[in-house]
Amino acid sequence: MGNPLRDPQDRRLPRIPEPCALVIFGVTGDLARKKLLPAVYDLANRGLLPPGFVVVGFARRDWDHGTFEQVAYEAAKTHSRTPWREEVWARLTGNMKFVGGAFDDDAAFDRLNDTLNELRDTHGIAGNAAFYFSIPPQAFPTVLKQLARTGMADNEKCGGWRRVVVEKPFGTDLGSAKELNDLVDDVFTGQDVFRIDHYLGKETVQNIMALRFANSLFEPVWNSKYVDSVQITMAEDVGIGTRAGFYDATGTARDVFQNHLLQLLALVAMEEPTSFDAAEIRAEKLKVLRAISLPKDINAGTVRGQYLQGWVAGERAKGYLDEDGVPSDSNTETYVAVRLGIQNRRWAGVPFYIRAGKRLPRRVTEVAVLFKKAPHLPFNPADVEALGENQLVIRVQPEEGVVLKFGSKVPGTTMELRDIAMDFQYGEAFTEQSPEAYERLVLDVLIGDRTLFPDAAEVEQSWNVVDPLEEAWIGTKPEQYRSGEWGPRAADEMLAREGRHWRRA
Ligand code: BG6
Repeated sequence: MGNPLRDPQDRRLPRIPEPCALVIFGVTGDLARKKLLPAVYDLANRGLLPPGFVVVGFARRDWDHGTFEQVAYEAAKTHSRTPWREEVWARLTGNMKFVGGAFDDDAAFDRLNDTLNELRDTHGIAGNAAFYFSIPPQAFPTVLKQLARTGMADNEKCGGWRRVVVEKPFGTDLGSAKELNDLVDDVFTGQDVFRIDHYLGKETVQNIMALRFANSLFEPVWNSKYVDSVQITMAEDVGIGTRAGFYDATGTARDVFQNHLLQLLALVAMEEPTSFDAAEIRAEKLKVLRAISLPKDINAGTVRGQYLQGWVAGERAKGYLDEDGVPSDSNTETYVAVRLGIQNRRWAGVPFYIRAGKRLPRRVTEVAVLFKKAPHLPFNPADVEALGENQLVIRVQPEEGVVLKFGSKVPGTTMELRDIAMDFQYGEAFTEQSPEAYERLVLDVLIGDRTLFPDAAEVEQSWNVVDPLEEAWIGTKPEQYRSGEWGPRAADEMLAREGRHWRRA
């Protein structure tokens, strides 16, 4: 065991980045205000940022520093996770800069370059900077060109590290993802590229690996001999909000299935990595993604849905076609259910049912591993009528935990059996609150830890799974479901045809 006081590699010591700048392109957007700036505050509040840490906001606004600071203050105060402390914020704002300009404005990027150069002297950032692309994908090429033109992406020239953080959607199909990867690769080297999938930043998602590989109990039954099927659910009660333009051009499969859900599947199904090194984990995830098989008849093995008006959590909800900005004849899906297989020795024959949707009854994301029934039940059939299958449910959100469901004897004089749940909840087991996904991921970028970021090959392979689905859906109409229901009836029928039903999440 290393000495925690001496060994800088000791994982129990807080990891603190070197002095550096975080440049946020699109700093006035939703993501920056609701997630990134609050994450920066929370990190500062937890003492995880170095004194020489600077946020540089970049956006097409004619703002002075005062205005930027005020907007950032409101955003961080409203959306931060940890208690508000003015003194922490005061220290951060002392280290904030704003550069205004359009992405094709050479002078603005020259100013940004000058700002970073000055920060080397004034804040000792030694040329270290991460560029966060919190901007629409169409703007990526222009910004990348600007970074290349000014030499801002050049590690050697800058005398420190330069990293780029790219938000999803990473392309809209395999072709566009490859183009984007090539573009980014022309400007940054692979190890400096961080592709964000914020699900990997969630504590409960990381716990999938801990649960599987830190225990001896689960792995022996984690295969087709014992597992009947796996269900992955990402249900949201919200609709598309104010993102009609983006959402209508995207749909659920590209928005969350290609990334968040396939990443969850990869973590649940992958083999054990030889170490927790980023390259090892990515290699194992990639193997599973490559082993995915689609239903033979895609339209029979998938369901697309679109929400109608209805009631969610006691409130009236509009139908998708009535949302502002959505064309009244849109065929875009707001719900998707897909049956996938995994062609390897561990999983052959085990269906993975994956579903995601908006305007479902409640917000819940979970992975449920459903086990085969015991081969023989030496009980009176009437006593085991209420007995279901064993289930291990990893609850990603909003309740965070793991539930194991199994049969137990009902107290009394008969041998009646019923399902009960063994319930581990983060809130009860730990005093620490889970950090926000973006808190973790922003810190990892600044430290240079790529473990929780999918690489280009994973992203491209995920499009290989989604592209044939999208192609098969061309010209089809989504099934309708009422807001506040668990998706279209066709999704229930899809499972019923195979003698199964969706778990009540
Ligand atoms: C985003 C999607 O990636 O994830 C959104 O674009 C979705 O449509 C969101 O609402 C859900 O994230 P979370 O962390 O709230 O589950």
